[in-house]
Amino acid sequence: MAAERILVTGGTGYIGSHTAVELINAGYQVVIIDNLSNSSRDVIDGIERITGVRPDFVEGDCTDIDTLRRLFAEYPGIKGIINFAASKAVGESVKKPILYYRNNLDTLLNLLDLMADNGVKGIVFSSSCTVYGEPDVNPVTEQSPIKKATSPYGNTKQISEEIITDVIAAGAPFKSIILRYFNPVGAHPSAEIGELPNGVPQNLIPYLTQTAMGIREKLSVFGDDYNTPDGSCIRDYINVVDLAKAHVIAVRRMLDDASEAPIEIFNLGTGKGVSVLELINTFESATGVKVPHVITGRREGDIEKVWADPSYANNVLGWKAETPLADTLASAWNWQKRLRERGIM
Ligand code: NAD
Ligand code: UFG
Repeated sequence: MAAERILVTGGTGYIGSHTAVELINAGYQVVIIDNLSNSSRDVIDGIERITGVRPDFVEGDCTDIDTLRRLFAEYPGIKGIINFAASKAVGESVKKPILYYRNNLDTLLNLLDLMADNGVKGIVFSSSCTVYGEPDVNPVTEQSPIKKATSPYGNTKQISEEIITDVIAAGAPFKSIILRYFNPVGAHPSAEIGELPNGVPQNLIPYLTQTAMGIREKLSVFGDDYNTPDGSCIRDYINVVDLAKAHVIAVRRMLDDASEAPIEIFNLGTGKGVSVLELINTFESATGVKVPHVITGRREGDIEKVWADPSYANNVLGWKAETPLADTLASAWNWQKRLRERGIM
């Protein structure tokens, strides 16, 4: 049987590239579309070095429906879509809301618009635990209340979930699985692909590894006066390869018509909350490298604590986050060292 074809939008990005690897390893034919606004073409080489297979790559913008029409014509028989393509910087979204609403929503609308005519059976959508805001109770389940978004980025995720729900309710002949990621971290164990943020990192792990490398002087720990055991914020850090594997299961589920409902929503996290200070300690003991850090004031808009109840994904998808945090942090460090070897950073 010919391999089934899957379209991965944003597939040269951080999570998309790791997912492309897992899809290829599982025997799928992968077509990537990416406009390279937050990634580079070299990622395709990394995917090929890991898998021995070069995925098809279209450099293009998903907000342009004609580009997508041409892609479906050039690569017929696409059975599933995983939509990673989006702008994702929370702070930037507050300053440039139109860019965020247009990029994230037009991309999704165009894909949904073209699925039926092209016989696509399902779409996986990258959502976020940001939809839960500051939860009243942890861990959060899929039934926990959705809180008013605190940024245009977060709002695009909430609106996207609603758009998908409405389109499916209107009788669209395809299914959707919405995956709410907690905090994806780490890199592929080969160190051939990983997270490569543009400019000064806004997120904890890239800032931490760049500090450990001496690129940044000190990591700022944003607050130690929260209502948590050590006073620093708590998150659920999920290994990116573990996360990628859930997408392969989700795709299979839709292609096999095994979904229990036309639209399903799953939390993807480990179920364990880890504070910023604990994470620094775990990194230092896993790698033997010190991270100079200083406690500074709180970052505006930060959530105090959030972690997942992943039992629905564990039970229904048969998926579980398996990689210990120490190994995940070591993989992030190996990736940072590889960037240095390659003269990138
Ligand atoms: P990323 O920026 O590394 O990857 C997104 C990719 O999409 C990039 O390669 C970018 O060039 C591309 N892209 C953006 N707009 C596009 C467009 N209009 N057309 C074509 N390509 C476009 O981000 P990521 O961390 O891999 O995130 C993937 C998805 O997961 C995003 O939807 C993000 O919002 C979501 N998500 C990420 C996190 C996280 O912490 N990384 C958490 C929750 C949800
Ligand atoms: N932090 C620091 N110092 C830093 C960077 C972060 O102490 O230099 C702390 C933050 O205060 C937070 C934790 O590290 O407590 C994690 O922060 P990140 O910026 O790495 O991640 P967030 O949980 O704030 O946000 C991430 C994504 C968002 C997404 C959200 C929920 O960046 O896009 O998860 O999915 F919306």
